[in-house]
Amino acid sequence: MIVKQYLMFILYSLCASVFKGIQGQYPITQNVTVVEGATANMTCRVDYNDNTSLQWSNPAQQTLFFGDKKALRDHRIELVRASSQELTIRINDVSLSDEGLYTCSLFTMPVRTTKAFLTVLGVPGRPEITGFTKPAMEGDVVTLTCTTSGSKPAATIRWFRNDKEVQGTKEVNATGKSFTVRSSLQFQVDKRDDGVAYTCSVEHVSLSKPYMTTEVLEVHYAPHLEITHSLIIPQEGQYFKLECVSIGNPIPEPVEWSKDGGELPDIERMIVEGRELTITTLNKTDNGTYRCEASNHLGSSSAEYILFVYDPNALGQHGPDHALIGGVVAVVVFITLCLIIVLGRYLARHKGTYLTHEAKGAEDAPDADTAIINAEGNHVHAEEKKEYFI
Ligand SMILES: *[C@@H]1O[C@H](CO)[C@@H](O)[C@H](O)[C@H]1NC(C)=O
Ligand SMILES: *[C@@H]1O[C@H](CO)[C@@H](O)[C@H](O)[C@H]1NC(C)=O
Ligand SMILES: *[C@@H]1O[C@H](CO)[C@@H](O)[C@H](O)[C@H]1NC(C)=O
Ligand SMILES: *[C@@H]1O[C@H](CO)[C@@H](O)[C@H](O)[C@H]1NC(C)=O
Ligand SMILES: *[C@@H]1O[C@H](CO)[C@@H](O)[C@H](O)[C@H]1NC(C)=O
Ligand SMILES: *[C@@H]1O[C@H](CO)[C@@H](O)[C@H](O)[C@H]1NC(C)=O
Repeated sequence: MIVKQYLMFILYSLCASVFKGIQGQYPITQNVTVVEGATANMTCRVDYNDNTSLQWSNPAQQTLFFGDKKALRDHRIELVRASSQELTIRINDVSLSDEGLYTCSLFTMPVRTTKAFLTVLGVPGRPEITGFTKPAMEGDVVTLTCTTSGSKPAATIRWFRNDKEVQGTKEVNATGKSFTVRSSLQFQVDKRDDGVAYTCSVEHVSLSKPYMTTEVLEVHYAPHLEITHSLIIPQEGQYFKLECVSIGNPIPEPVEWSKDGGELPDIERMIVEGRELTITTLNKTDNGTYRCEASNHLGSSSAEYILFVYDPNALGQHGPDHALIGGVVAVVVFITLCLIIVLGRYLARHKGTYLTHEAKGAEDAPDADTAIINAEGNHVHAEEKKEYFI
């Protein structure tokens, strides 16, 4: 009983597989994705076949190939391989309108069909940036628009301001089977935008590298001036330089220098070269207000520097020393004067005692020379004598 059942099962299985091989088999296909303009291979296979024909038809249900026989007059469509187990055709120069569901049919009874989807990618066009006014004026509101058309599916647009991503406003319109994608950036221009590169990048599944377009913004803006100087403490006799640092587009030129509202007084010592004013030897008479002024078509600007020329003698480490020495000298002179006056009076009063002292020395000494030495031994007396003879 068991053996009989087992044999029955094997027989059934065999019959089923043979039946399926001949009658129940479906053709095998694969979805295909190609870029517009490329070639699409459409392959259809069957594992078991008894000379039954295979057929490819397009989304419009038109037969393309029946076995190795071409059915539709389209020079782009060619036969690659036709056998009892395979029918492969090729569509050259694929266009977006070729996209759709293709059908492979196996002409058994009943007919078995399998569908394959042909996806055609639309390659985006190179992005174009519009809305550039060259140059833009500071304060203008600028709208930069980047447009790319022909993508399918719709491409992605990204904006970069000097490599840093910025957000734009996206708009997508279908034009036929592809898309026109547009992204806009709106901003108020200021001087920091001068020379800034705006890049529009288009990314798409059909591109290995994004497409990029860059425009460099030129912004015109009013000048701004500042004065820098070479010395912290300008002193008489020194070399001194002032520079009028200016920014502005167009570059504000020429730079005009003036002093105290008038022309520069000393052309020989004061040299103007471009944006620099050099005073070769500073003089006290140079102090005053120096002003530089420059303009471009958007406006003018000026900057001022108040110069105070210091006297090197009244400055720095030498100053206090000089004062001290002066003071000491004054005191010494004063004391000396006082001494002279006091001594003068003393001498006048003791004129008589001088001779007496000399006579005293002479008495003790054996000769005249010794008498004088003895007298000089007394310092006060020697001074008295000196002063007296003067
Ligand atoms: C299509 O088939 C041809 C050869 O039959 C091959 O050279 C080509 O690369 C194939 N194309 C694709 C997109 O598979
Ligand atoms: C298949 O077709 C070929 C010729 O087209 C023929 O020789 C062969 O006998 C056929 N086979 C079957 C199983 O019908
Ligand atoms: C083929 O593409 C169709 C339509 O896009 C989809 O529905 C189907 O699942 C795809 N089949 C395979 C095997 O990827
Ligand atoms: C999209 O269509 C609207 C209305 O027709 C039009 O105003 C706009 O400019 C279009 N945009 C693009 C990106 O083509
Ligand atoms: C400064 O200028 C005056 C007058 O021009 C001149 O007499 C004087 O010598 C100058 N002083 C120095 C330090 O150059
Ligand atoms: C230099 O400047 C000082 C202070 O501003 C002023 O008092 C002085 O008179 C000026 N000297 C000359 C020679 O102009």
